[in-house]
Amino acid sequence: MCGIIGIVGTRSVQERLIESLKRLEYRGYDSAGVAGVVDGHVQRRRAAGKIRALEEVLAADPLSATVGIGHTRWATHGGPSTRNAHPHTAGRVTLVHNGIIENYAELREMLKAKGRTFESETDTEVIAALIDWELEGGKPPVEALKAALDQLSGAYAIGVLVDGEDNLIMGARKGSPLVVGYGEGEMFLGSDALAVGPFTSRIAYLEEGDYVAIDHAEARIFDARGQAVRREVRQVAASAALVEKGNYRHFMEKEIHDQPEGCQRTIAAYVDPLTGRAAMPGGVDFAALERIQIVGCGTAYIAGLLGKYLMEQLADLPVDVEVASEFRYRDPALRPATLAIGISQSGETADTLAALRLCKSRGMQTAVVVNAQESTMAREVDVVWPIHCGPEIGVASTKAFTAQVSVFTALAVAAARARGRIEAAEEQRLVKILLEAPRLIAESINLEDAVRAVAIEMSKARDVLFLGRGPMYPLALEGALKLKEISYIHAEGYAAGELKHGPIALVDELTPIVILAPFDSYFEKSASNMSEVMARGGQVVFITDPDGEAHAPAGARVVVTAPRCDPLIAPLVMAAPIQLLAYYVAVQKGADVDQPRNLAKSVTVE
Ligand code: M6R
Repeated sequence: MCGIIGIVGTRSVQERLIESLKRLEYRGYDSAGVAGVVDGHVQRRRAAGKIRALEEVLAADPLSATVGIGHTRWATHGGPSTRNAHPHTAGRVTLVHNGIIENYAELREMLKAKGRTFESETDTEVIAALIDWELEGGKPPVEALKAALDQLSGAYAIGVLVDGEDNLIMGARKGSPLVVGYGEGEMFLGSDALAVGPFTSRIAYLEEGDYVAIDHAEARIFDARGQAVRREVRQVAASAALVEKGNYRHFMEKEIHDQPEGCQRTIAAYVDPLTGRAAMPGGVDFAALERIQIVGCGTAYIAGLLGKYLMEQLADLPVDVEVASEFRYRDPALRPATLAIGISQSGETADTLAALRLCKSRGMQTAVVVNAQESTMAREVDVVWPIHCGPEIGVASTKAFTAQVSVFTALAVAAARARGRIEAAEEQRLVKILLEAPRLIAESINLEDAVRAVAIEMSKARDVLFLGRGPMYPLALEGALKLKEISYIHAEGYAAGELKHGPIALVDELTPIVILAPFDSYFEKSASNMSEVMARGGQVVFITDPDGEAHAPAGARVVVTAPRCDPLIAPLVMAAPIQLLAYYVAVQKGADVDQPRNLAKSVTVE
């Protein structure tokens, strides 16, 4: 939820802390701050708002430190003010934190009773006060850290400076990720590989409960019991180019355009164009499975809905899909012969992770469709099915979505074959169709100008309805989610068949109704819905294909004609127009496309 970085450097760290925080801004951008050791003492600079506000503070008052920590915040406890911005200081201790301390109120009271005072409303400040309390009691820094960690419940990744220690940063993780970066005479701590990517590609991932002390020369890592441990140092590719916008105005725009390549790389990992076979690595016995349970949040959940449609239709395999935040708390009926599949771009979403852990604890085999291959989910599940779309930075998920759907399409084909529902020739036919998707997605992206024209008009709307049937229903949900999150226009996605059961009451001449309807087996029904809406003055934006355009009832305000494709890959091909629609509405409204208000890319707290 927040991003943290720490550098024990041999030269000034100010610019590097800022560079790293900019890479971490996708995790939160309510406030930012840095702290460093200057002449043996810790100084900090903080600002409410985005990193550029902090840069202004640093321009006026630079931090000439070679050892420092930094933080970009997504507010949980305490509003997004400078006072609540990290780093937080208590006595000799200054720290940055990602996560939530659940027992902070009790700890705060306990420390107040000992005479401590607090200057912020955050849960984080109590961690600093606790460590400082332990230091005051005479413990050396690492022991004081451990003693404080033992009193915390909740989730944390922290980076800690201690006044008077000019060759030390301490860190710890539980429930929130933290990596150690190994440089040349310099060491780093960061929320992820992207954070330390510009400085080193040699990284160790701390495990649950680990804590660490880094100095110029080494990292001393301890497990939750206080035993010294070694964690594998891996070479990680986090190329700078992958997180640059290039010639695009926004990451979201770039990532929409990345989709043909991202899907191609993903599809290539799961199908063989020469043999025409689809194969899911990891040894899942699809023939023996009785059920699949998919869990995810937001766009990932919607990709899961499409997975259900694909797997039930092709493989005759019962699939349940549920938002992870509901699933994890409602005591679901789970059976061992069920495969649990989590879907997550980040691999760190707290609810999805907890849902997968619940399934694992009940003896189920677990898998994840994930972008961040070194994430907590990827490390905890039995089977990892990566997507290969590259880092996604825009808060609104686009290329991860189509890559996730690509995986489920391959998975449905592989499962259908394994369960004897299709023969080799049909598998080859379906694989061939899937391999056509990247080219057709590229054609779909070429509709950009037509979509931009629709967006200019839609930007004046107060409410927008998205309707679809079959696989276009999840896509209608995704269209509504994209629009509301980046343009702040109220939008609802509905199964078109539900129109008469309520939402038709919303239809008037001011409400654009986006109907997603390629010329498939649902088309006639969707066309009837279109007529019903138009009969009530509704302004229909009809997103279809050339055959759908030819058969559509007259009267749609706009028709956007995506390329003709097989229904198997229609969700992939039809995704770009709805993403572009949301994007251009947001641009037209002057909204902050890549960092919409109140949101963060990665929701690592409940
Ligand atoms: O990293 P995850 O895929 O687990 O994230 C899940 C959701 O938070 C994410 O899809 C969110 O809904 C996006 N902002 C949607 O664009």
